[in-house]
Amino acid sequence: MQWFKSTVAVKAGTAILEVGCGRGVGAKLIYETYQPAHLYLLDLDLRMIKKAERWLNGENEKPIYFCVGDAARLPLKDDSLDAVFGFGFLHHVPAWRNGLAEVARVLKNGGVYFMEEYYPGLYQNFITKHILVHPHRDRFNSQDLHQAFQNASLTLTHTFELKRMGILGVGVKADADSVICKPNEDACQVVLD
Ligand SMILES: C[S@@+](CC[C@H](N)C(=O)[O-])C[C@H]1O[C@@H](n2cnc3c(N)ncnc32)[C@H](O)[C@@H]1O
Repeated sequence: MQWFKSTVAVKAGTAILEVGCGRGVGAKLIYETYQPAHLYLLDLDLRMIKKAERWLNGENEKPIYFCVGDAARLPLKDDSLDAVFGFGFLHHVPAWRNGLAEVARVLKNGGVYFMEEYYPGLYQNFITKHILVHPHRDRFNSQDLHQAFQNASLTLTHTFELKRMGILGVGVKADADSVICKPNEDACQVVLD
């Protein structure tokens, strides 16, 4: 069995994917912070990818690759990435469990998934359901998402969660038994009702 230290550090020179990158605001931060050897940016919407390209591609050549694609079928090899970022994309995906399984598939063992996700209480409440467009069926709440992480062998090590609103979290591709965490030190889980 391999053991993985529960750390949120990502080394420079690694391979990183952002799923649902939108116009590339987060991707620019990822690029500047982690200086990856390869940064893959994927979004379902061609208009977003074009905006991200404009936002990120300055005059210098950068190792950033843009792709229009579906999170539920990532065009990347198994076990090929050190980190995946997802800021608010998974709750847009009809087959969201497949989306999460795909994140796990493309991560190397010990790779890290940084995520921000929202629950229906935020985006499908009596006001937001009239304003925002999201899939209606089979939406995940806190319990569903935690279960799906477990099923995908992604161990949540750091979370900050508002139970009815959404979650910020870090998942490591490893079984819970093989993640070394000292309570209140390496790992941290905060849940607010
Ligand atoms: C709420 S926006 C977040 C954009 C960006 N991550 C940010 O934080 O600004 C959700 C993004 O997910 C993309 N998206 C929705 N469904 C997707 C799918 N199945 N595969 C990939 N991207 C998807 C949308 O096109 C949109 O750009």
